[in-house]
Amino acid sequence: MTTLIGLDVGTSGVKGIAIDEDGAVLAVAEEAYPLSTPHPGWAEQDPEDWWRAAEAVLARLPEGPLGLSGQMHGLVVLDDGDRVLRPAILWNDQRTAAECAEIEERVGLERLIELTGNRALTGFTAPKLLWLRRHEPDVYARICRILLPKDYVRLRLTGEHAVDAADASGTLLFDVANRRWSAEVCAALEIPLDWLPPAHESTAIAGAGDQAAAALGVGIAAPGAVSVVLGTSGVVFSALPAYAPDPQARVHTFCHAVPGTWHAMGVMLSAAGSAAWLRDALRASVVERDAEAERWEPGTEGLLFAPYLAGERTPYPDPDARGAFTGLSLRHDRGALWRAMLEGVAFGLRDSLELLRRLGARPEVGRVSGGGAKSELWLRIVASVLQLPLERMETDEGSAFGAALLAGVHSGVFADAREAVARCVRPRARVEPVWAYDVQYRSFRSLYPALKAAHGNDV
Ligand code: XUL
Repeated sequence: MTTLIGLDVGTSGVKGIAIDEDGAVLAVAEEAYPLSTPHPGWAEQDPEDWWRAAEAVLARLPEGPLGLSGQMHGLVVLDDGDRVLRPAILWNDQRTAAECAEIEERVGLERLIELTGNRALTGFTAPKLLWLRRHEPDVYARICRILLPKDYVRLRLTGEHAVDAADASGTLLFDVANRRWSAEVCAALEIPLDWLPPAHESTAIAGAGDQAAAALGVGIAAPGAVSVVLGTSGVVFSALPAYAPDPQARVHTFCHAVPGTWHAMGVMLSAAGSAAWLRDALRASVVERDAEAERWEPGTEGLLFAPYLAGERTPYPDPDARGAFTGLSLRHDRGALWRAMLEGVAFGLRDSLELLRRLGARPEVGRVSGGGAKSELWLRIVASVLQLPLERMETDEGSAFGAALLAGVHSGVFADAREAVARCVRPRARVEPVWAYDVQYRSFRSLYPALKAAHGNDV
């Protein structure tokens, strides 16, 4: 039996997993690193931290064919000797609003959506390059190549410059329909094509952006069930039978890790990120918080949480959006704050699911992964808010597990991604909706415009 290794270069750390050919988990390892926010709205990491963490994780796992997954969109800029020129600018960095407007102007919004499946969003890679050109011209002048986060780890491991179609889709420089770099977009933005690494199908290089890898890791190789991810970001992801961008690009349309297929997804920026923030602010463990939150009825007596701590992407592409608790009373304790936070994130996920439903998705079940999926209470809340049964899988490590499956296809253990899924991916428990949240969801929907009216001029 071959041991397959998956490595996920995430936002909070590197996670590694070793599985056998039937998907049984043999070992897991994890190594954390910091996130730096040198200015409000900025989010950066040192690629050297990813590499050190990847080395440490790999040293704790058995050897075997390796697949990579990682946080999408992050910009790593390299000089002519493949040296990193500055800290990587991440997917949740919000500094590029002006550059997004410039891109939509230069390419034309309609043409941009047609070609890339998306509008220009602050988290994506291309606006970060334009920002560097404007604000750090000395760095920009020395760029010879760019890479996405997990592909920097690939470079350090193998010396190869490469990217997969799924991750490349999140750069805004990719012709998503034709699964190759877009000469037209690059020309319009004056970005040299030779900075970009060769792009391959995920199975051809054993790698994928974390959302496509997570979907594969929970068995979503074709339209049907949706992938629901409670990672730092929160995602609802639906496989598509063909390239069909939302004409208004309210959700992203990207290449999937299954060759020749696509997917649509909504991404909220702070899901388990909201939980980590509140946990730190309240200084106690998640388990304690869940127990205290269980004592509150759904809706926590009118307390609502807006999860826009890092700005938002879906459904509000707004770098200046901010979070809030509203409806506080003397009765509310920290268990109430915790429950309202869990519910607020679930409402944000429902916003994405509603957009996917409007585009024709008819999921009967969601399959969950990510750190937040370890909380039984959160899953009951999310299932109830989405009105969708959720399946927990044998492993919660969706992205790293998906990367290991890609390693299996690449090394010939499985004939293709579908066989990998059929052999290795098994649900272990089902969480049914238990509460009705329609009234609270309607109130939640009015929160963003109200907050915008109150705080729109603050930032
Ligand atoms: C996806 C996205 C995030 C990161 C998080 O579009 O921005 O989910 O990939 O790792």
